[in-house]
Amino acid sequence: MTAPHTTPITPRLKNDNWDLHQIAERGGIPESMIKGTISRQQFADYLGQAIHINRALDAALTNAIVAMPELAKLVTDDQSFEPYFAADLEYFETPEADTLGPGVQRFIDHINAHADEPLHIFGLHYVRLGACNGNRFVARKLRQVFGITHPTNGMMSQDPFGQSQRDQWTTFKTGIDALTLTDAQRDELFAGTRAAYVLTINLDLQDYASDEQLLAKHSKSLDREVFEQGHSVHVQPN
Ligand code: HEM
Repeated sequence: MTAPHTTPITPRLKNDNWDLHQIAERGGIPESMIKGTISRQQFADYLGQAIHINRALDAALTNAIVAMPELAKLVTDDQSFEPYFAADLEYFETPEADTLGPGVQRFIDHINAHADEPLHIFGLHYVRLGACNGNRFVARKLRQVFGITHPTNGMMSQDPFGQSQRDQWTTFKTGIDALTLTDAQRDELFAGTRAAYVLTINLDLQDYASDEQLLAKHSKSLDREVFEQGHSVHVQPN
């Protein structure tokens, strides 16, 4: 059996995924949201698709906690995302999608295929929670573009924690670093985070592109310095 590790894992989850994060924020729906080019109805339709992923991930996470009870103290009740998507859909008076897009179906299939790997599922959750750091900027932009003045109207899925985002994220990461994980468990968690980025980038794609294919396609434009100085869409780091 592999010996448990004491080096913190969260720097790896952040630093070794910068490439996929940069691809994720530069294309598709995330880019159209941060630039404010997405229309109100396109955004609502996206929520109607994404709620299905979030429902599946909430359920898988509940099971992961049963399999690995030490995760329970990290996953607070306010980290279930389905209610946030449901509230936003209600605000935009838009129903859930009946027919799932191929990328949405792929994401759900992936969650189900990894249901017996609690740390992989937790890695998927890490990325949706971490994405709220950037989605706070998305929410700020979309409120302007859509003329929303109330802080929670229509934006719970993007900015569920408001002012406490940063502190909650730091607490979450500290809790992860306090877990005792073997190398194999660390790799399972890391694989979950990587898969979350790849599946998110793939949401808009008809045909699935693997991380190798995505990295090869974007190799010339990836720029770590630009990324670390405030992300490719001119977001100032907070
Ligand atoms: C819409 C464009 C996006 C922008 C502008 C953006 C921006 C940011 C910013 C400023 C941070 C905080 C970085 C820091 O702590 O120093 C962050 C963190 C993060 N973002 Fe994004 N992001 C975007 C899209 C996404 C997407 C689509 C995903 C997921 C697929 C994602 C996943 C994450 C994760 C997991 C973190 C936490 C990193 C960590 O500490 O491990 N982001 N993002």
